[in-house]
Amino acid sequence: MNLLIIGATGGTGRELVKQALEQGHNVTALVRKPEKLRLQHTNLAITIGNVLDQASLVRVVERKDAVLSALGHKQWFIKTTILSEGTKNIISAMEKHGIRRFICETTLGIGDTRGRMGLYYSLFVIPVITYFYFKDKEKQERLIKDSTLDWTIVRPGQLTNGRKRGVYRHGANIGSRIITVHISRADVADFMLKQLADRSYIRKTPAVAY
Ligand SMILES: NC(=O)c1ccc[n+]([C@@H]2O[C@H](COP(=O)([O-])OP(=O)(O)OC[C@H]3O[C@@H](n4cnc5c(N)ncnc54)[C@H](OP(=O)(O)O)[C@@H]3O)[C@@H](O)[C@H]2O)c1
Repeated sequence: MNLLIIGATGGTGRELVKQALEQGHNVTALVRKPEKLRLQHTNLAITIGNVLDQASLVRVVERKDAVLSALGHKQWFIKTTILSEGTKNIISAMEKHGIRRFICETTLGIGDTRGRMGLYYSLFVIPVITYFYFKDKEKQERLIKDSTLDWTIVRPGQLTNGRKRGVYRHGANIGSRIITVHISRADVADFMLKQLADRSYIRKTPAVAY
């Protein structure tokens, strides 16, 4: 398939690119700083762009079979709209070109999984550190759900840089009000790529964790 990967220089994004290429897909990586990707492959095209720049998305989305997003940032303490604005631009570019399949990583702990990132996140990380970030993530999810796309929102537990195990739980009822569940970025990428050939989570919000 011809895939566009957003957030390709990030932890999950790089895994998405690596594994997609291993699976024989043609990958276009939208990046702000190409030198950060450190991957080369004959089936990999690197395009400089920014999700906040609608024009760069419209150009790059054309003729893709699916878009995968692992967009994120670390500006947690200020009120930002990078996730929601960026995702709005992705959706609009996809709708413009009639590209339907969108697989987007958000997080466990929002929407109907609120409280399921464990006590530490519910009492400290979310209200103190990532309050604005989570607000923007909620908005990001609403925009995806309101779109006409064939979307899947993937909500991982706390991310690690561990190896790909290929075995994890997914679906509803993942997470805990007490402990924080984990999953590696490599396994999140594995799950996201599996959605390309599996329509059971279309317009659904599966969580993933060990
Ligand atoms: N950390 C956790 O425990 C945890 C748990 C659950 C879910 N999540 C979520 O999972 C997602 C992926 O996390 P991660 O740690 O794997 O990713 P990450 O390392 O934070 O990477 C984020 C990616 O988004 C890109 N990006 C940011 N702003 C952009 C813009 N304006 N235009 C284009 N690209 C932009 C970054 O590009 P640059 O390299 O140029 O900055 C980077 O490639 C995030 O949404 C995160 O919140 C995290």
